[in-house]
Amino acid sequence: MKPINVGLLGIGTVGGGTFTVLARNAEEIARRAGRPIRITVVADKNLELANKITQGKCRVTDDAFSVVSDPEVDIVIELIGGYGVAKELVLKAIANGKHVVTANKALLATHGNEIFKAAQDKGVMVAFEAAVAGGVPIIKAVREGLAANRIEWIAGIINGTTNFILSEMREKGLGFGAALKDAQRLGYAEADPTFDIEGVDAAHKITILSALAFGTPMQFERAYIEGISKLDAKDIKYAEQLGYRIKLLGITRRTPDGVELRVHPTLVPARRLIANVEGAMNAVLVQGDAVGATLYYGKGAGAEPTASAVIADLVDVTRLHTADPQNRVPHMAFQPNQLVALPILPMTEVQTCFYLRLRVQDEPGVLADITRVLADEKISIDAMLQKEPGEGEYEADLVLLTHLTREKRINQAIARIEKLPVVVGKVTRIRMEELGK
Ligand code: HSE
Repeated sequence: MKPINVGLLGIGTVGGGTFTVLARNAEEIARRAGRPIRITVVADKNLELANKITQGKCRVTDDAFSVVSDPEVDIVIELIGGYGVAKELVLKAIANGKHVVTANKALLATHGNEIFKAAQDKGVMVAFEAAVAGGVPIIKAVREGLAANRIEWIAGIINGTTNFILSEMREKGLGFGAALKDAQRLGYAEADPTFDIEGVDAAHKITILSALAFGTPMQFERAYIEGISKLDAKDIKYAEQLGYRIKLLGITRRTPDGVELRVHPTLVPARRLIANVEGAMNAVLVQGDAVGATLYYGKGAGAEPTASAVIADLVDVTRLHTADPQNRVPHMAFQPNQLVALPILPMTEVQTCFYLRLRVQDEPGVLADITRVLADEKISIDAMLQKEPGEGEYEADLVLLTHLTREKRINQAIARIEKLPVVVGKVTRIRMEELGK
């Protein structure tokens, strides 16, 4: 059968992995796809690297724009990243009637609405399995496997770098800075780790999952984002003593008033499977009304795991490219004219349980003062831990777990607690999720 021709933009880690896996498994992939899938041209600024990987098996160029207008190319794989030139190239490829496979979560979370509209108008596919949780087929699961369900919520460990750092902090008792250095030394964290540690990468990914789960446009600009850089090793230790682990979760939930879309450090009961996902691994928990909870686990980054997702998309596009565009799987899971712009809830309206840590003077009445404030704000206490003051100290750490409350209530309570004369410094607050039903 006539091969389908692919132009690859960017032959870094994932591009190299894609080239290698496609070559290694060519025969089986052709048996699945119905015809051979062949990379005919690779574009990369680093020609030396591109030549080294491709070994003369395809054309190599440093002009990515020539690839997106190459009449021979049927599918363009975009692995450049970011939303500058990558956006231009993707839109050009679509305008030229090419299907696109991309791993670019930043691009889709911020410009996905425009990109999918352009693809819809042109009748081409944009496939993006590799954009969320690397090799874990979570896009396919949410978009197709769970299509019978009214999805209620999704909670995911969707950034391996931060999960690695949190595991190091918990297992070795390291502070955030030392754990980050370890992650950089071992190649898990970039030299500039900002997007990972501040939760932006996870927010891109949960934005995409939220849109697919609820049939809404991408609304990245409304996401609440809090990373792990201010997390204290002490809180990881206290959480553990109370039976919880702290994970950076991307969470999206449907509520009667709107959709929650948030990324923040979260206490999760240690008995949950997802709480035991360690190191750079990813895991996504999806709650559907019919199926209940399902959990997807695997490598969220790396050359071959991510290539696995890129090539699955190539196979899908190869199988479907002759189908009438109306009969293909919709880009955003729901038919394009059926998307509903549900409001994203402001964080002040979101309801969670809370972990609060306070430094208090160790004297009579302190607890009564604090619990009175919580009672006034109708916040109910679930558990408490008081650490004895050290030798010669007069201040103690007090840790409280609350039942479900609205963020604005806890904000008010914390502001009042911080004004109490017996409370020293700021209150540390971390949100908590049972992830049961
Ligand atoms: N930087 C991401 C992570 C991988 O640490 O999980 C690519 O999305």
